[in-house]
Amino acid sequence: MQTSVTTIEKFISEQENRYPDATGELSNLLYDIALAAKIIAAAIRRAGLVNILGSAGSGNVQGEEQQKLDILANETMKNCLSHTGRVCVMCSEEEEDIIPIPANVDAGKYAVLFDPLDGSSNIDVNSAVGTIFSIYRRVSLEGRGTVEDVLQPGCRQVAAGYVMYGSSTMLIYTTGQGVHGFTLDPTIGEFLLCHPRIITPRVGRYYSINESNFGRWDKAVQQAVRGFHGDRPLEMAGKNSRYIGSLVADFHRNLIAGGVFMYPADTKNPRGKLRLLYEAAPMAFIAEQAQGSATDGLNRILDIVPTALHQRTPLVIGSREDVGYVADTLRRLQVSPRPTGTLETSVL
Ligand code: AHG
Ligand code: MN
Ligand code: MN
Repeated sequence: MQTSVTTIEKFISEQENRYPDATGELSNLLYDIALAAKIIAAAIRRAGLVNILGSAGSGNVQGEEQQKLDILANETMKNCLSHTGRVCVMCSEEEEDIIPIPANVDAGKYAVLFDPLDGSSNIDVNSAVGTIFSIYRRVSLEGRGTVEDVLQPGCRQVAAGYVMYGSSTMLIYTTGQGVHGFTLDPTIGEFLLCHPRIITPRVGRYYSINESNFGRWDKAVQQAVRGFHGDRPLEMAGKNSRYIGSLVADFHRNLIAGGVFMYPADTKNPRGKLRLLYEAAPMAFIAEQAQGSATDGLNRILDIVPTALHQRTPLVIGSREDVGYVADTLRRLQVSPRPTGTLETSVL
């Protein structure tokens, strides 16, 4: 049995020790999120049992009504973050407005944004889902945080990461010093370092896109995807297709194995489907830190200045050359960017 392991706690504190001015607050915030991840992972593991236990007439163990997992994940994130004194404001994909911290808690210096349960349609079919988080330093000067603390461009993130609840639970994060991955050992309840310094391949093996939208994309996007099919061999070698419908799982596979994930604008989602603050920006920070890249098709995701909490954006993310190929194709076919950086869709 292996006796020497690196826990997430040890790894983060060793990284932090390199900075003499560090206060430890960001490290503690990451541990808070790791704790939330363990609680959510435990609930997801039992998700398939809920009906079985329910049909035995027992409800759950505490006799509470079972909550939907996305609500449970949202509440868990809030509970693990709001009372720590490290956070001034939160923001969740599940909630309309910013989430203030309780009045009796001192406000900290960080704003935390999250998608508590990403890929939630996969829950019912026992496939991978995740939690995505993004952390900014507050810009408001005092008191509880405000909306301006969360409406910051992605390039100002101080940390971002995701948890993937798959065949095992993994936590991947960056603080701008590379991307590091940990696997939860359920027997000891600790995240252990398994992927230090993840570098994503420059060219990917996979492309990941919901092809049922093909007829709703503009011509340039269709052309780029035809390249991935292998129909334009002089520009792009064909790739293998993989799509789960859970950004965390699709992104994670491509990060490790190499590939490009796209959710472009279409006639149903003219500004794209994914959310800039909870999905695109944190994943873009991770992609860039792993030497990949992320655009809205043309423009760098991390440069987009958000104007609304639930703003959507088209997303092309993953291996650098593949993301570049999509941008070149869109540029060649003269798709014009909007001032916000989202794509103009000249629909067929
Ligand atoms: P969420 O479950 O947080 O609403 O996110 C679902 C997102 C994302 O995870 C995934 O990439 C995308 O929706 C899938 O959309 P389609 O079903 O339209 O392909
Ligand atoms: Mn999501
Ligand atoms: Mn979600």
